Amino acid sequence: MRRPLIAGNWKMNTTINEGVALAKGLVDFSKTLNKDRDILICVPFTALYAIKQVVDGSKVRLGAQNMYFEEKGAFTGEISPVMLQDIGVDYVLIGHSERRQYFNETDELLNKKIKAALSHNLKPILCVGETLEQREKKIEKETIKKQIVNGLLGISADEMKKITVAYEPIWAIGTGKTATSEQAQEMILYIRNILKDIYGEEISDNTIIQYGGSVKGQNASEIMSKSDIDGALVGGASLKLEDFIQIISY
Ligand code: 13P
Repeated sequence: MRRPLIAGNWKMNTTINEGVALAKGLVDFSKTLNKDRDILICVPFTALYAIKQVVDGSKVRLGAQNMYFEEKGAFTGEISPVMLQDIGVDYVLIGHSERRQYFNETDELLNKKIKAALSHNLKPILCVGETLEQREKKIEKETIKKQIVNGLLGISADEMKKITVAYEPIWAIGTGKTATSEQAQEMILYIRNILKDIYGEEISDNTIIQYGGSVKGQNASEIMSKSDIDGALVGGASLKLEDFIQIISY
């Protein structure tokens, strides 16, 4: 019913040449993959155009890691949904914890970005996650609920069908410390239930919810075996072709 989405988030890594080489390897691999799953790479803005030429017509989908919500204008340094659409980007990450943490992105801003992405036919991946401190204070669920509810404010059920959610506990990102599959499953089920309250059972049952945070070839199968986890958002391990292939092939 829900097709798993395995996504690589390259973050601020790769030159154009490095990115093109990685994407080519992935396209070649995807031709041999006979499992039912979607593959996505979210690459730096500078490499989007070149990599679009590589993945075009293949099973590999292309994503950006961020965007601004305005279409154009005096917003020095920003990239608009129109520009991403122009390249032929399929997905865009919205509210990655690094954006929230280092660039002060708020739920209110992210909500505008999601709406802008949708109105330009880009599929948003709304990223949510709690800090270690929030988990230790046992406020991880209310933190996630706030991020989901406020991020999705004013978004219709029809629009929700185009949105993916990624649960990435901040304490598990780049730390080698993965949430246990039970912890990930518990939170993702919690998110699914929030979606059920807002949008009803059908939408909730059909929403792809990924886990992210130190996903590796060695732990991918265990994480993906959980009933509510529909894929992974992979940072570090998506930068090495063999490692990412191992995850995709779980
Ligand atoms: P790591 O896989 O490097 O922990 O990063 C996860 C992440 O932030 C993906 O968006």
